[in-house]
Amino acid sequence: MNLETVLTVTHYSDSLFSFTTTRSPEIRPFKAGQFTMIGMADDDVLRAYSIASAPSEDSLEFLSIKVAGGPLTERLQHIQPGDQIEVGDRPTGTLIIDNLTPAKRLWCVATGTGLAPFLSIVRDPATFEKFDEVIVTHTVRTVSELAYRDLLSDLPITYYPTVTREAFETPGRITERMQTGALWSDLDVSPWSPDTDRIMICGSPAFNQELRNQLSDAGFTHGTNRAAGEFVQERAFVMQRVDD
Ligand code: A2P
Repeated sequence: MNLETVLTVTHYSDSLFSFTTTRSPEIRPFKAGQFTMIGMADDDVLRAYSIASAPSEDSLEFLSIKVAGGPLTERLQHIQPGDQIEVGDRPTGTLIIDNLTPAKRLWCVATGTGLAPFLSIVRDPATFEKFDEVIVTHTVRTVSELAYRDLLSDLPITYYPTVTREAFETPGRITERMQTGALWSDLDVSPWSPDTDRIMICGSPAFNQELRNQLSDAGFTHGTNRAAGEFVQERAFVMQRVDD
């Protein structure tokens, strides 16, 4: 672990915030989509966090929920610029475009803080060298949890937010919008096919499992560090919610 200084903190809602830190040379280079460990400087509790900043950036960025009574986030949510936190110096993980075979279109499908790795992926030029089109879907409970909405709307990607517990123009879970066909008609694209689409999934275990089953049934192969495939997945870290 390495001590890094907090640079900025942004609170989106009672349950969601992001922060940036310095990036010492001790932190090994990482690939967009990978994660590392985070902890407070003065205790042993560590949690995995996907890195939301691009591999080329001078600082590191992370997205977190706030868990009341949570061993790490109860304290982490109160960090201020100038504070020091511990950051693991060896980022790792398989949610990377290297683990996908080439295709026309990349889909990044997130729920909640599962958006974090995709923020790194869509800020990395390598993504756009490999894929002609990039689509990011983000499903959250409330509109205030649509973090990074402005950034995602400004990038050369298709951004498709959905909200499950408040009124919104594209309501409901992304999986429901696939089943009804609303997703495909809204974006004017065909349903996923191994010929044209590569899928990255990051969300709760139930969400990941549901999509993994759906993709396996449709003949998609799972990409790993040993053999690239047609979809990859990682669970969203630090994801228990205050009211669960
Ligand atoms: P819902 O409100 O219907 O539970 P959480 O905040 O619990 O991590 O969830 C983030 C978002 O992911 C919520 O909008 C939630 O919808 C949605 N979600 C949770 N489980 C699934 C699932 N199995 N498939 C699709 N979406 C899910």
